[in-house]
Amino acid sequence: MHAQQLLNQLRFPELDEVRQYLRSLSTHTLVGVGAFAALTTYWYTTRPKALKPPCNLRMQSVEVPGGEYARRSALMDSDKHMTHLYNDAKTMYEFFLRGARVSNNGPCLGARQPSQSYEWLSYSEVAEKAENLGSALLHRGHTKTKDQFIGIFSQNRPEWTIAELACYTFSLVAVPLYDTLGTEAITYVIDKGDILCDVPEKARLVLECVSGREHSVRTIILMEPFDDELVAKGKDCGIDILSLSQVEVRGETLTHNWAAGVHCLVCFTTFRTKFASNPELLFLCVKPQTLDHHDAHISYLPLAHMFERVVQGVILVHGGRIGFFQGDIRLLMDDLTTLRPTVFPVVPRLLNRMFDKIYGQANTSLKRWVLDFAFKRKEAELLSGIVRRDSIWDKLIFRKVQASLGGRVRLMITGAAPVSATVLTFLRAALGCQLYEGYGQTECTAGCTMTVPGDWTAGHVGAPLPCNSVKLVDVAEMNYLAANGEGEVCVKGANVFLGYLKDPEKTEETIDANGWVHTGDIGKWLPNGTLKIVDRKKHIFKLAQGEYIAPEKIENIYTRSDAVAQVFVHGDSLQDVKKAILEDILKLGKDSGLKSFEQVKDITLYTEMFSIQNGLLTPTLKAKRAELRNYFREQIDKLYSKIKM
Ligand SMILES: *[C@@H]1O[C@H](CO)[C@@H](O)[C@H](O)[C@H]1NC(C)=O
Ligand SMILES: *[C@@H]1O[C@H](CO)[C@@H](O)[C@H](O)[C@H]1NC(C)=O
Repeated sequence: MHAQQLLNQLRFPELDEVRQYLRSLSTHTLVGVGAFAALTTYWYTTRPKALKPPCNLRMQSVEVPGGEYARRSALMDSDKHMTHLYNDAKTMYEFFLRGARVSNNGPCLGARQPSQSYEWLSYSEVAEKAENLGSALLHRGHTKTKDQFIGIFSQNRPEWTIAELACYTFSLVAVPLYDTLGTEAITYVIDKGDILCDVPEKARLVLECVSGREHSVRTIILMEPFDDELVAKGKDCGIDILSLSQVEVRGETLTHNWAAGVHCLVCFTTFRTKFASNPELLFLCVKPQTLDHHDAHISYLPLAHMFERVVQGVILVHGGRIGFFQGDIRLLMDDLTTLRPTVFPVVPRLLNRMFDKIYGQANTSLKRWVLDFAFKRKEAELLSGIVRRDSIWDKLIFRKVQASLGGRVRLMITGAAPVSATVLTFLRAALGCQLYEGYGQTECTAGCTMTVPGDWTAGHVGAPLPCNSVKLVDVAEMNYLAANGEGEVCVKGANVFLGYLKDPEKTEETIDANGWVHTGDIGKWLPNGTLKIVDRKKHIFKLAQGEYIAPEKIENIYTRSDAVAQVFVHGDSLQDVKKAILEDILKLGKDSGLKSFEQVKDITLYTEMFSIQNGLLTPTLKAKRAELRNYFREQIDKLYSKIKM
């Protein structure tokens, strides 16, 4: 059939645009496009049915009585927060035991050497290693009540999860040390009796941190081989350096004396007590396509973050397997095609890169048109609830990108930062798998809202999880009012943490007397009961004349001044530089619409950057305002005294 004839037969309103586009193409190209159109017709008559969503998508959350405008998930029948899904799995340790049972001792943790396939440890092998390590730790004097903390300073690898399980088995507390810790590591390591490290370099860093200081580190347990020099260095600091295999062998001889009695103890303490409740609930939300022991997860997001730990928990409770990446993010693609995971947690940065890559490859106008066309078709399917990767568009266009992830991914979750609606929708269509967006923070075990199955719309972070309620509270200075369905996002429920360890002041700042965690994010309820994050609560103060000031807004404008960066270079002629900088930032402020009362009156120059190391920035690089205020108390007082004169 002639291409033009074919096109004329099509009755899709969207194709008017397409027809116009086609008229501008040569007949040669049109034949190809005609073939495409024929396929479209085929696809329209063979498209599958949508999955039934678990709740009415127009009412995904319901208001909890009490006049607080709090909302809970519509997936539940009552206002009571759900705390667990399986009666026999309420702690991480029980998760693991359940996984061992339902998988019939299937493969549990896997790793690979370069260019090799994955090698797996079964659930029982993992349990044995964890018990041996845990016994050895107990024998070294760690108990539930004394020396409870075990540091883990390692990239994701099976030993990480084994060490964590070892702790859970014996009621010890695993404390992840961040890979990127600099000198701040000192405060993290000095009170850990034993620290597990993956490579000798990390052991060296620990030694550097403690040398010449008072510390209680007694042992560093290394996963990788090390030399005598390191052992000698350890000795200088009074620290034994042991290999993990050595420790495990030692633990084996102790197991039966030690482990039997404490084998079933529940694991969590202090801030991590409630960790276990969330993972299953995440799972509940991803019904109807539940996970089982056939599922495989690729572990590459840092285990030091809650997100990855929660996903691992979900996999373990269902008896699935966890395959670790080789430790180099540049080799992730190779790990994906080797493992062929079904569960793939992601962060927006990675999604953006995938999006850019797919679009980058469509670098002619025809390719771009075809890609957009295929996307539009799959997007239309998505909006009617259909998620699949066996349509003609998948076969022709998206198969390559799907294959690059191994070709079996059926569940993806993004979190940690906002993702753009364009990228989310495009990848949902292109990857043809259930891609959920979650929102939350460590303080509520990684997640407090998540999109529900069947709602493939973007631009919101879903409804509250069944384990918590969410309410919005007034931020009057910024004009967000709970009565209008806007305000600071507050979370309360089974997944909310108990408090910051040894920091009651900070705890009180974050959790109020009624148990609500205040997140600092500004949210808005959408008509269908989903939450949209719209802003961040600013640090606002009131001037003597009664005007409100948002310092972060002003800072963001001033930091665009080139001179503000240069001051760190020209710190020697401070007075002249100061005048120039003050003029420059005031001009910037004026150009950007700051009112005169919003502008700073004077500045002081400081030659050291605010950093995480000097305690003036949070690990996420935000200013610690209270600390800054104390740190610069003297300079601030001086500035004010000058202004008053
Ligand atoms: C277009 O992309 C292909 C790979 O998909 C590449 O080989 C080619 O060099 C690119 N062309 C241009 C003009 O960028
Ligand atoms: C929920 O509401 C938002 C805003 O009105 C809309 O963009 C989105 O498509 C809705 N989702 C569903 C599943 O109806």
